[in-house]
Amino acid sequence: MDVARIGVVGLGAMGSGIAQVAIEAGFDVVGREVTAQLGDAAAGRVAHFLTRKVEKGQRTQDERDGAVARLRTTTDLDDLADCDLVIEAIVEELGAKRELFGRLEEICRPDAVLATNTSALSVTEIAAATSSPERIVGLHFFNPAPLMPLVEVVRAELSSDEAVATALAVVERLGKVAVPCHDTPGFVVNRILIPLLNDCVRVLDEARVTPEALDAAMTNGAGWPMGPCRLVDLVGVDVHVHASEALYEKLREPRMAPPPRLVAMRNAGLHGRKSGRGFYTYERG
Ligand code: 3HC
Repeated sequence: MDVARIGVVGLGAMGSGIAQVAIEAGFDVVGREVTAQLGDAAAGRVAHFLTRKVEKGQRTQDERDGAVARLRTTTDLDDLADCDLVIEAIVEELGAKRELFGRLEEICRPDAVLATNTSALSVTEIAAATSSPERIVGLHFFNPAPLMPLVEVVRAELSSDEAVATALAVVERLGKVAVPCHDTPGFVVNRILIPLLNDCVRVLDEARVTPEALDAAMTNGAGWPMGPCRLVDLVGVDVHVHASEALYEKLREPRMAPPPRLVAMRNAGLHGRKSGRGFYTYERG
């Protein structure tokens, strides 16, 4: 199917990043948030990053203005009725996602493809909440979505070839690198990265090093673009703990379980960059 209009549900860090990538690639985007303030804030973030590209000579002012004009935000899910593809990027809770896909199924055209950006939940279990699981796939972007090239295109048990082909064609038009894979816990990258980051956090206490020292070790000794503590802060301590729990529940490998230190940080609201404090302290806004 030829996709012209994309819906994005949830305009947090991931959803707004996905919306940015889509409008830059020429798609019309309808972004849905629960309040108009959250929608406006997301549109403001997108406009800011596109303005920075103009300032740095990476885009013309006309390209920036055209892209910004292609993003419309709404609080009404019914406004996604005309979308050819909807990408869900809401909270990582299976119940909430299953309920949302049930509603999207009623609202969207029968030929529209519905995708989840879940990090570690089962796409098949999300799709099973609908009566049209064949049109449901995973489209897993990486944080920050405008900067990270990869998108995992996840085939669930009942995904149709057409839905997967549509998703792959969209990823290509977005200028991203697609890696098609099957619906297994953590897919490809998180299956490897989540336990690795958990190991890193355990090493903090075992080797008695600071987050700064651990990050310096991994950037200078292993060539990582950013250290593991800064990366957990970027991903979000809450998101990382949730993904760890989801993987542990499915695979039962001890390394998958979130380290108690991270669980305590999550419980204390130290969610990383988005909350202003995690392993490091950040300026808000
Ligand atoms: N959205 C849009 N644009 C952004 C942005 C964002 N969130 N963050 C930064 N930018 C733009 C800014 O305009 C910035 O330029 P400016 O500072 O002059 O305004 C420009 O991008 C460049 O930003 P940086 O200088 O910070 O870019 P770097 O060259 O330092 O690279 C990085 C940043 C790409 C994040 C790099 O450090 C990196 O690759 N880190 C690893 C990230 C990673 O591993 N992500 C995957 C996490 S796992 C995951 O997401 C899966 C999930 O399911 C948990």
